[in-house]
Amino acid sequence: MLKHIAFIMDGNGRWAKKQNRERTYGHKVGAERIKDLAIEANKMGIEVMTLYAFSTENWKRPPKEVEYLCKLPQLFFDRYLAKLQENDIKVSYIGELETFPEKTQKIIREACERTKDNKGLNLVIAINYGGQREIVLAAKKYAEAIANGDETSWNEESFNKYLMTSELPPVDLMVRTSGEKRLSNFLLWQLAYAEFIFVDEPWPEFNEEMLHQVVDEYNKRHRRFGGVEDA
Ligand code: FPP
Repeated sequence: MLKHIAFIMDGNGRWAKKQNRERTYGHKVGAERIKDLAIEANKMGIEVMTLYAFSTENWKRPPKEVEYLCKLPQLFFDRYLAKLQENDIKVSYIGELETFPEKTQKIIREACERTKDNKGLNLVIAINYGGQREIVLAAKKYAEAIANGDETSWNEESFNKYLMTSELPPVDLMVRTSGEKRLSNFLLWQLAYAEFIFVDEPWPEFNEEMLHQVVDEYNKRHRRFGGVEDA
């Protein structure tokens, strides 16, 4: 049973350019896809959907695009938070939010606070997130806890407690849109045993039907977690 699906929402810029629009238009339409997909994932009984909204490397993009990407959570939650609430969807985030503009921080924190008791899908926004950065931060906390005696075991399970995803189940399926076959520093630890599906469609075209298709494909795969399948 698939509990946790993660998406690298790639191809917004190329999709927009194809329609002779600004790259930011692709991000806008991409953000709108999130609402429908979250509602569908919730109906399907998926527990967690993690989305790579802004990576630690995205600061290198042109300032106008960075500014737009920083503003996008506000546009999204102003428009759709009520709809997410109605569907019992909980919003949370991973990443170093504190370096984002104050206003964006406030909107995201409010969305999390207002939906924290919801029991449906947990919609996790990875924002100013980088997998390597997360591991370094976790390692620091782990080392401190070991040094001051709060932590006594030295293993993967204990390390997991210091990650930003400590409360989440491991990722079962990672989907990247738009044909690229890279991880781009996304959830490096959490994807250890995940299934990967790469689809050619760009994110603004990824719809509910495609969500069902990737989940169906996942269900056909045989996960062995390094062991052997029962005879
Ligand atoms: C990659 O496409 C996409 C991003 C860097 C941003 C994705 C963000 C969203 C879809 C919205 C996030 C919204 C909320 C509410 C958190 P790309 O620009 O790299 O596309 P390209 O490869 O075609 O250039």
